[in-house]
Amino acid sequence: MSTPTLEKQDQAPEPADATAAHTITVTFRIRRFNPEVAAESYWEDFQLDIDPKERVLDGLHKIKWDHDGTLTFRRSCAHGICGSDAMRINGRNRLACKTLIKDINPEKPITVEAIKGLTVLKDLVVDMDPFFQAYRDVMPFLITTGNEPTRERLQTAEDRERFDDTTKCILCAACTSSCPVFWNDGQYFGPAAIVNAHRFIFDSRDEGGEQRLEILNDRDGVWRCRTTFNCTDACPRGIEVTKAIQEVKRALITRRF
Ligand code: SF4
Ligand code: FES
Repeated sequence: MSTPTLEKQDQAPEPADATAAHTITVTFRIRRFNPEVAAESYWEDFQLDIDPKERVLDGLHKIKWDHDGTLTFRRSCAHGICGSDAMRINGRNRLACKTLIKDINPEKPITVEAIKGLTVLKDLVVDMDPFFQAYRDVMPFLITTGNEPTRERLQTAEDRERFDDTTKCILCAACTSSCPVFWNDGQYFGPAAIVNAHRFIFDSRDEGGEQRLEILNDRDGVWRCRTTFNCTDACPRGIEVTKAIQEVKRALITRRF
C-alpha cells in the first residue's frame, strides 16, 4: 500500500530554528582615550548586530575582534566574579559581563566609559593602584595574637552573620568610583576599603579591629562619607555598602564591635 502524501498547503509549517539568534542593530558609543595619540578623550560610535540577550561585554568583544583591535578594556572571568570589568554604562557603574543589552534600552546608543575618579590609562582602563593601596591600608587580613591554635578558630553562626554581607566584595571599584567625595578627593579611603575593613572589624576571631578603626578615624577615613548611597546603588554584589560604613562609624563612637 502506498504512503498517503499531503498536499503542500496541508503540511505543517516548518518549525522555526529555536536556536537561531534574534539580532538587533545597536550603537555602542564608547569614550576613547589614547594618551599616545591625543591629550583629550572623544566619543566613538560602533554599530553592531547583536542578540539583545547578550551582554555589554560581548558587544565590546565584537568591537575589539571585528572592528577595532585597539579598543582597550579589562575583563577576565566574564561571570561577575573577578571584578575587573566595572565601567560606566549609560552613566551608571556596572559590570559589563553582568549587564544584558536588552536591559539598558538598546534603541538608544549605549554609552560606555571608564569609571570616574581614577586616572584613565587608555580607553576603559583606569589606574587601580590608588584603589588597591587604600584596600591594603586597612589591613584586609585576619590579625591575631598569641600562639597558633591547634584547631580551627570557631565562631557562632550569629557572629559569622555580622560580617556576612561584606565578605561578598569582589573589589570591582564600582562603589568607590561612584562616590562624589572620592571624585573630589582621591585621598578618601572610599567605600570599598571601608567595606573590607568592616569584614574584619566585625569578625569575632580578629584582634585588629582597634587598629583598623584608628586608620579609618583619619581625615580621609569614614567621616568623609556623606551618605549619598551611590555606593550601595552601584554595587553589583548587592552589598549594603552605606550600611557597612555607618556600622564602622558607630563602632568608632562606641568602640563596641
Ligand atoms: S563593595 Fe561592591 S561595588 Fe564596592 S568594590 Fe566591593 S563588590 Fe565592588
Ligand atoms: S569579567 Fe570578571 S567580573 Fe566581569
